[in-house]
Amino acid sequence: MGPANLLFIIVAVSAQLLSEAWLNFTEYPTANLSTSWTNNESSFTGPHVLQTLFYDGSAVRSLVLSSPQPILGPYFGAGFFCASPCNVFLFAIYIFHIRSDTKPHMVWSANRARPVREGATIELTIDGNLVLRDADGSLVWSSGSSERSVAGMVITEDCNLVLFDRRNGTVWQSFDHPSDVLLPGQSLLEGTRLVANTAATNWTENQVYMTVLPRGTNGYTGLYGYVGSTPSQLYYAFSAWVSENDTGNGPTKVTFLNSSLSLLVQTRQPSNPRMHNISLPAAKSTQYVRLESDGHLRLYEWSEDLLKCILRSDVTMLRELNDDCEFPTVCGEYGICTAGQCTCPFQDNSSSINYFKPVHLRKANLGCAPLNSISCQEMQHHKLLTLTDVSYFDTHHTIENATNVDSCKQACLKNCSCRAVIFRYHLNDSQSAI
Ligand SMILES: *[C@@H]1O[C@H](CO)[C@@H](O)[C@H](O)[C@H]1NC(C)=O
Ligand SMILES: *[C@@H]1O[C@H](CO)[C@@H](O)[C@H](O)[C@H]1NC(C)=O
Ligand SMILES: *[C@@H]1O[C@H](CO)[C@@H](O)[C@H](O)[C@H]1NC(C)=O
Ligand SMILES: *[C@@H]1O[C@H](CO)[C@@H](O)[C@H](O)[C@H]1NC(C)=O
Ligand SMILES: *[C@@H]1O[C@H](CO)[C@@H](O)[C@H](O)[C@H]1NC(C)=O
Ligand SMILES: *[C@@H]1O[C@H](CO)[C@@H](O)[C@H](O)[C@H]1NC(C)=O
Ligand SMILES: *[C@@H]1O[C@H](CO)[C@@H](O)[C@H](O)[C@H]1NC(C)=O
Ligand SMILES: *[C@@H]1O[C@H](CO)[C@@H](O)[C@H](O)[C@H]1NC(C)=O
Ligand SMILES: *[C@@H]1O[C@H](CO)[C@@H](O)[C@H](O)[C@H]1NC(C)=O
Ligand SMILES: *[C@@H]1O[C@H](CO)[C@@H](O)[C@H](O)[C@H]1NC(C)=O
Ligand SMILES: *[C@@H]1O[C@H](CO)[C@@H](O)[C@H](O)[C@H]1NC(C)=O
Ligand SMILES: *[C@@H]1O[C@H](CO)[C@@H](O)[C@H](O)[C@H]1NC(C)=O
Repeated sequence: MGPANLLFIIVAVSAQLLSEAWLNFTEYPTANLSTSWTNNESSFTGPHVLQTLFYDGSAVRSLVLSSPQPILGPYFGAGFFCASPCNVFLFAIYIFHIRSDTKPHMVWSANRARPVREGATIELTIDGNLVLRDADGSLVWSSGSSERSVAGMVITEDCNLVLFDRRNGTVWQSFDHPSDVLLPGQSLLEGTRLVANTAATNWTENQVYMTVLPRGTNGYTGLYGYVGSTPSQLYYAFSAWVSENDTGNGPTKVTFLNSSLSLLVQTRQPSNPRMHNISLPAAKSTQYVRLESDGHLRLYEWSEDLLKCILRSDVTMLRELNDDCEFPTVCGEYGICTAGQCTCPFQDNSSSINYFKPVHLRKANLGCAPLNSISCQEMQHHKLLTLTDVSYFDTHHTIENATNVDSCKQACLKNCSCRAVIFRYHLNDSQSAI
C-alpha cells in the first residue's frame, strides 16, 4: 500500500470524527442567574458537548459556548481550562475546535496567579456576581458586579464574555480586563496592561508588560513595552506626538482592528480623533495578538485548513525593534545576547574565575545565575566587573553628574539597588560595568 492510500485513510477517519461530534452539537452562548458549575467531569456531561479533551492532554469544560461559524469553527468558550496533566485549572476564555485532534488557545483568564483544582466552582449568583471558588470553598476571583441589575451572561461572537442587564447593556466584560491577549475590536485603555505569561504552560505573570500612556517618558503618546522592575525599564515604544490641545478628551487607547493596531486619541472634536496605525495583515478569519514571555507581541490567526491558530506576524518586529537581541528577556536574567546567541557574562574567558553560571546548560536563553548572592549588608565587598562593547535597551535612567567611568562606577556602588551601570560617551556605548 502506497503513501497515497495511507493518506486517504487518515482523512476519512478525521471526517468521521467531525460529523459524529457535530451531530450532537449545539451552541449555548448564554447562561442565566442562579446557575452554578462544579469543575468535575460528571457536571460537564449533558445535551451539549460540554467537556472537550484534546490530543495534547489539555481540556476545556465550557460554561458557555458560541461560534461565528458553527461546525467549521472556530468556537469560543468560557469555562475551566487545563493543560496536561490537568491537575490545576483556570477560569478562561479560549478559541478551539470541538475536534479532539486539535488544541485550545487561551485568550483570557481570571485567575492566572491562582489556579484552582478539580471540584472548584463558578457561580453566577442571583444578584449578578460571577464568583470563582476553589474546591475548599475559598474565594479566588469575582467580577464584582453584584447589585448592578445583571440579567445573564453571554459569550459573544467576538469572543467577549459579557454580563448584561435587562436592557441588554454591558455591566461587566472580559474585554475591559485583558490578560495577555487582544481580540479584534478589543482596546487596551490607558491605565490597563497586557502582562505576559512566564511560559506557554506556566501561567505565572512574568516581568514583561505593555501599556498605553497619554504621555510617555519621551512626552509622546503611545503603546509602551516595559520590563517590570523598580523602576520599570522601557524596551518598546510605538508612539506619536499629540499636542496638549488634542488630549484629555477621553481615554487614550490602542484598539486591535482588522488590518491594524490603532492608537486612538480623542480630540476636542469627537468626530475627528487622532489615529496612528501599525499595519497588520488583513484578517481572513479570527485573529488575536498576544504579548509573550520573550517580549514579542505576535499576531495569530485561525486557520480553517489546520483548525488551529497560526502565527501571521510579529507586531513588535515590524517597527522599532528588528533584532532579537533588542528584546530584554531574550537571554533571561544576566544573559548577554550576541547575534541571537545567549551567553553568560565572562563565559568565554577561560583565564578568570566564573561569576555566573547558566541556569540550564543546554538552554542558554533561560539566563544566568550569579554564583554569589548580592546583599545590601555587604556593600563594602562589592565591586564592578567590566564588559566591553555591549549596549542596553533602556537609557532613561541616567546618573546625573557622573561624567567619567570612575564616577559612574562609584555612583552605582554607593546605591544598593544599582546592580549594573553603563557608561556612555555621547552616543558611543564604549564600556559597561556589572
Ligand atoms: C450523541 O447523542 C446520543 C444520544 O444522546 C448518544 O447516544 C451518542 O453517543 C452521542 N454521540 C456522540 C458522538 O457524542
Ligand atoms: C434562561 O431563562 C430563560 C427565560 O426564563 C429561558 O428561556 C432559557 O432557556 C434559560 N437559559 C438557560 C441557558 O438556562
Ligand atoms: C460533581 O459535582 C456535583 C455537584 O457539586 C456533585 O453532585 C457530584 O457528586 C460531583 N461528582 C464527582 C465525581 O465528584
Ligand atoms: C444584545 O446585544 C447584543 C450585542 O450587543 C446583540 O447581539 C443581541 O442581539 C442583543 N439582544 C437583544 C435581546 O437585544
Ligand atoms: C512558573 O514560573 C514561576 C516564575 O518563574 C516559577 O516560580 C514557578 O516555579 C513556575 N511553575 C512551574 C509549574 O514551572
Ligand atoms: C491650543 O488651544 C489654544 C486655545 O484654543 C490655542 O490658543 C493654541 O494656539 C492651541 N495650541 C496648539 C498647539 O494648537
Ligand atoms: C487605521 O486602520 C483602520 C482599520 O484597519 C482604518 O479604518 C483607518 O483608516 C486607519 N487609519 C489611518 C490613519 O491610517
Ligand atoms: C478584513 O478586511 C479585509 C479587507 O479589508 C476583508 O476582506 C476581510 O473580510 C476582513 N476580515 C474580517 C474577519 O472581517
Ligand atoms: C579575562 O579575565 C581577566 C581577569 O579577570 C581580565 O583581566 C581579562 O581582561 C578578561 N578578558 C576578557 C576578554 O574579558
Ligand atoms: C550636580 O552638580 C552640580 C554642580 O556641581 C550640583 O549643583 C548638583 O546638585 C549636582 N546634582 C546631583 C544630583 O548631585
Ligand atoms: C538608586 O538607584 C535606583 C535605580 O537603580 C534609582 O532609582 C535611585 O534613585 C537611586 N538612589 C539614589 C539615592 O541615588
Ligand atoms: C567608540 O569608542 C571607541 C573607544 O573609544 C572607539 O574605538 C570607536 O571608534 C568609537 N565608535 C564610534 C562610533 O565613535
